[in-house]
Amino acid sequence: MSTESLIRLDSIKKVFLTDEVETHALAGVHFDIRRGEYVSISGPSGCGKSTLLAILGLLDTPSEGTYVLNGREVADIGASERALIRNQEIGFVFQAFNLIGDLSVFENVELPLTYRDGVSKAERRDRTIAALERVGMAHRVKHYPAQLSGGQQQRVAVARALVGQPSILLADEPTGNLDSKNGEAVMTLLDELHKAGSTICMVTHDTRYAEFAERRIFMFDGRVVDEATMHRLRHEEDERLRRPASQRIAP
Ligand SMILES: Nc1ncnc2c1ncn2[C@@H]1O[C@H](COP(=O)(O)OP(=O)(O)O)[C@@H](O)[C@H]1O
Ligand SMILES: [Mg+2]
Repeated sequence: MSTESLIRLDSIKKVFLTDEVETHALAGVHFDIRRGEYVSISGPSGCGKSTLLAILGLLDTPSEGTYVLNGREVADIGASERALIRNQEIGFVFQAFNLIGDLSVFENVELPLTYRDGVSKAERRDRTIAALERVGMAHRVKHYPAQLSGGQQQRVAVARALVGQPSILLADEPTGNLDSKNGEAVMTLLDELHKAGSTICMVTHDTRYAEFAERRIFMFDGRVVDEATMHRLRHEEDERLRRPASQRIAP
């Protein structure tokens, strides 16, 4: 396994401006992800995990800081090439599965390949079936998303993310809409994919799921912190919220 950085983030900040309110969603984030690693990012709701993942997946841009993907600084890449890189290098899995309801399982998984030049119909079919076999869903090619359980829909979404053989799989709360049995099955699937060589970055507010990863990163209030600090700050926040509003002191 290579130890080269696939992703390098340096001082990443993200400020959202809405109705005169500034939200500092990311307040200076640094970390690396090497090829073949399985990293989890955990922290309480609102700490900036989805914002960070959207930046990693080239769905959004940072307000400040540098992001180097595969040795290239992302800020230097124009819009059309970004779309190309997103299609080829990034596989995204969302909490709400985000399958297209009027496409079959097969068509959902095939979709990313249809945006690529030079992939023949026969190759698309072979790769789509292979991706569905990897997630144990090849027996449901003709079904529609609404005919599947949540756990099955998420397996199909993972197949769709994998079909293009991306450099990295980004998963945002992939178990968030699943019961614990299906949640664990999806986690086991990610673990198998990692063992077979995939690079994975998975975001969760649930520290139990974070433990499935090879390396854990913790966030609080838009920053990366160590585990003990995250638990301490989380505890302090819970204590503060337990007090009557009149006695609360802003942090
Ligand atoms: N598009 C947006 N516009 C304004 N504020 C946003 C936007 N997206 C996220 N935020 C704010 O940024 C912070 C981090 O959000 P998010 O990254 O979704 O957190 P998490 O995924 O950890 O729950 C929150 O305070 C959220 O309200
Ligand atoms: Mg989120």
